[in-house]
Amino acid sequence: MSEGQRSMAASTTGEGSQELEGRVALVTGGNRGIGAAIVHALAGEGATVAAGYSSNSEQAEEFKSKLEGEGMTVTVHQGNVGKVEDTQRVVDEVMDQHGQIDILVNNAGITADKSMIDMEEEEWQRVLNVNLSGAFHMCQPVLRHMIERGSGRIVNVSSVVGQQGNMGQANYAAAKSGLFGLTRTLAREAAFALGKADRLEDGGIGLTINTVAPGFIETDMTADIPEKVVDSIKKLIPLSRLGQPEEIARVVRFLCEDGSGYITGQIWGVNGGMEMA
Ligand SMILES: NC(=O)c1ccc[n+]([C@@H]2O[C@H](COP(=O)([O-])OP(=O)(O)OC[C@H]3O[C@@H](n4cnc5c(N)ncnc54)[C@H](OP(=O)(O)O)[C@@H]3O)[C@@H](O)[C@H]2O)c1
Repeated sequence: MSEGQRSMAASTTGEGSQELEGRVALVTGGNRGIGAAIVHALAGEGATVAAGYSSNSEQAEEFKSKLEGEGMTVTVHQGNVGKVEDTQRVVDEVMDQHGQIDILVNNAGITADKSMIDMEEEEWQRVLNVNLSGAFHMCQPVLRHMIERGSGRIVNVSSVVGQQGNMGQANYAAAKSGLFGLTRTLAREAAFALGKADRLEDGGIGLTINTVAPGFIETDMTADIPEKVVDSIKKLIPLSRLGQPEEIARVVRFLCEDGSGYITGQIWGVNGGMEMA
């Protein structure tokens, strides 16, 4: 990342503003990559953030200490989003420690790439389970809680691959496309539930569900892509570069702010112009 990009990213990750003070956010896959940038952006705006992770305890604790050193309030929670018993436990842990959940970001994701004709059943199921069922498992208890309170923000992290498809990623593309249907259905159901309870016009911040669909972003997930392939990917991106995690985080932060209450059921592409419908 150039100096210019770095300072732009820093200036757009909520540093300085405390708009989310008093809010509690739960971010899955929040210890590294895009999730870590989202945690930083939300905590930087004053939110208390519960960062989920799968197996990397040492790194999660290091990340927590780093952010605490910057004056932010962060807790970390181990759990596999693909297992409903883990997600329920993580939600209970966060509720016990922080009393409420105002923001849920379903960011945890994995890939297991192979051409369709060679893909094993297990590779298909594993990717669907983490990337799509994981969001369902997290949304169900959290949405109930948000509907009871009459407000909240859910952001699902999808991918440009869910919009365009990608060779060798049938499982990942299907899971990421699935998040679009999940998002739009939950957005409708949440609005319906609030309307039924006469809470749509109570002057609150509303309950919105949106998806952010990143393009190719520099994280561990893309670190192993051979340079030649990265060069060919860049040719497909009008802005000719990969994105930075902070460039995704700033859109998530924007969607979580109180003023974004009229935005729901939408897909926010952040991809350097790669996908233009
Ligand atoms: N990087 C890209 O180019 C790109 C593009 C479009 C969309 N995305 C999406 O953006 C999200 C974040 O991607 P990233 O690049 O930041 O990924 P990453 O660097 O590989 O980090 C993945 C995160 O998800 C967590 N995780 C993995 N499996 C999990 C599970 N079963 N249960 C709970 N947490 C789990 C990991 O925890 P541990 O550290 O404990 O393993 C880690 O925090 C993903 O949904 C990805 O599909 C990424």
